[in-house]
Amino acid sequence: MKMPVALLLLLALCNGIRVFGEKSNGQCDHKLTLDPRPHTVSILEFGAVADGKTLNTIAFQNAIFYLKSFADKGGAQLYVPPGRWLTGSFNLTSHLTLFLEKGAVILGSQDPAHWDIVEPLPSYGRGIELPGRRYRSLINGYMLHDVVITGDNGTIDGQGLVWWEWFTSHSLNYSRPHLVEFVSSEYVLVSNIILLNAPAFNIHPVYCSNVHIHNISVYALPESPYTVGIVPDSSDNVCIEDCNITMGHDAIALKSGWDEYGIAYGRPTTNVHIRSVHLQSSSGSSLAFGSEMSGGISDVQVEQVHLYNSLSGIEFRTSRGRGGYIKEIIISDVDLRNINTAFSATGYYGSHPDDKFDPDAFPVLEKITLQNIIGINVTMAGNFTGIQDSPFTICLSNISLSINSGPSTSWICSYVFGFSESVFPEPCPELENSSTSSSCFSILKPNGRAAVL
Ligand SMILES: *[C@@H]1O[C@H](CO)[C@@H](O)[C@H](O)[C@H]1NC(C)=O
Ligand SMILES: *[C@@H]1O[C@H](CO)[C@@H](O)[C@H](O)[C@H]1NC(C)=O
Ligand SMILES: *[C@@H]1O[C@H](CO)[C@@H](O)[C@H](O)[C@H]1NC(C)=O
Ligand SMILES: *[C@@H]1O[C@H](CO)[C@@H](O)[C@H](O)[C@H]1NC(C)=O
Ligand SMILES: *[C@@H]1O[C@H](CO)[C@@H](O)[C@H](O)[C@H]1NC(C)=O
Ligand SMILES: *[C@@H]1O[C@H](CO)[C@@H](O)[C@H](O)[C@H]1NC(C)=O
Ligand SMILES: *[C@@H]1O[C@H](CO)[C@@H](O)[C@H](O)[C@H]1NC(C)=O
Ligand SMILES: *[C@@H]1O[C@H](CO)[C@@H](O)[C@H](O)[C@H]1NC(C)=O
Ligand SMILES: *[C@@H]1O[C@H](CO)[C@@H](O)[C@H](O)[C@H]1NC(C)=O
Repeated sequence: MKMPVALLLLLALCNGIRVFGEKSNGQCDHKLTLDPRPHTVSILEFGAVADGKTLNTIAFQNAIFYLKSFADKGGAQLYVPPGRWLTGSFNLTSHLTLFLEKGAVILGSQDPAHWDIVEPLPSYGRGIELPGRRYRSLINGYMLHDVVITGDNGTIDGQGLVWWEWFTSHSLNYSRPHLVEFVSSEYVLVSNIILLNAPAFNIHPVYCSNVHIHNISVYALPESPYTVGIVPDSSDNVCIEDCNITMGHDAIALKSGWDEYGIAYGRPTTNVHIRSVHLQSSSGSSLAFGSEMSGGISDVQVEQVHLYNSLSGIEFRTSRGRGGYIKEIIISDVDLRNINTAFSATGYYGSHPDDKFDPDAFPVLEKITLQNIIGINVTMAGNFTGIQDSPFTICLSNISLSINSGPSTSWICSYVFGFSESVFPEPCPELENSSTSSSCFSILKPNGRAAVL
């Protein structure tokens, strides 16, 4: 159906980010355009030294403090020239563009004293890995508006090896830091850069709106423990497009808080559009939902994705005590290659923050459609293990997987209902329940949002 071309102006700032969108499509069709910032300074003007050894935290902090004064004059750009710029954690400011020139590498310090320790996020109630506080990320945004990290293929390298070793040897005193974190911010853009070796997550937008991430490469060693690429967390209006992500654990993971803390905070992840991404995950999932999903995850459209060399392709994770929901998800045009388990949904994933969680807080997992998928060299097609008191519903359409494991079981189903059509290998009978077909989820164009047919 051809819609009238209604160009929708969502936000106009005199400079910085502007968002235009065609009414009828997903979040990635709302293009963020970047006007040049009227003021630019180089980090060199603040005494930074690019030898990979001198600590430049104060230079970054001073530069950004200085650039704050341009916020009401169209904002400003902090230019990082080629070289190796070692730093501890620092904060961004609103109406700022951090620009990494080709050959510029921001290096995260390997001395934990250079990373502040901060309170846990309210929707988690504690550090994710250890009870109590957590390390602040390398690059932080807190309550910002119109902030950009971009460049000409410059790099942010977390030098995470030390953190991975401390994690593995249980010698951390606080939960690991991330590489880039935005908290309670809006109109955020990350593009045209490379992120390497994050201590834990690479990009973590939490309690954010209007976050666009495109044309980036994200890499961590396959054996790096629980490293995750992009983690939209209790955030809405998110676009992730044209990104290549290779991780130890999940490549993209959507989350929304943990058990009683996430339920109380109550902020969902919603209206997320993921398109044209190449994802690999050696010990996790290329694309994961949860397991922390207590604020709810809904209205997610994923298309044109290539998932390969991964333990799991697409995984929905939850647990009794989480509450919340994962619903109104449509994933289409996927190719899978060299994947152990193509699809899974589990109601038995992950631990609880403490013993105050409500065991009767059952999560809901419904209105999920996977369609137009081809897979080669897949070991198991699907493992759907729902919760007895809250069975899952999942729909499958036009899926063809070549299974490498001979005639063994391709599908495991318990406490799951659903509908399927044109699926090979033939799914379990629980997924051939035509009375559930009305709850299959598909895209309805007119209002620009996904909807139930
Ligand atoms: C960075 O921002 C946090 C708020 O998130 C604030 O507590 C901290 O003092 C800031 N650090 C600097 C160096 O400005
Ligand atoms: C993607 O980023 C690279 C630099 O990393 C740049 O050369 C290229 O032009 C960007 N592509 C688009 C479509 O913006
Ligand atoms: C960006 O840098 C990476 C690694 O240095 C290189 O492989 C890639 O070709 C570069 N891309 C562009 C567009 O310059
Ligand atoms: C954790 O704390 C102990 C005792 O203060 C200290 O020796 C150790 O270096 C700390 N670990 C890290 C990774 O900072
Ligand atoms: C991602 O990989 C594809 C295929 O190899 C390539 O065409 C594309 O330029 C890559 N994108 C980035 C941002 O590196
Ligand atoms: C099939 O995938 C597995 C990983 O699941 C990989 O180890 C193996 O090399 C792949 N085989 C081929 C022929 O690519
Ligand atoms: C299927 O998933 C369940 C729940 O996550 C898990 O316990 C089981 O080991 C999985 N089975 C296979 C064969 O992977
Ligand atoms: C089935 O999926 C394949 C790609 O996986 C696609 O090329 C084809 O057009 C789809 N068929 C229908 C009827 O949508
Ligand atoms: C089909 O699904 C409905 C729920 O939508 C369920 O009540 C019914 O028992 C299912 N039928 C079979 C045969 O599994």
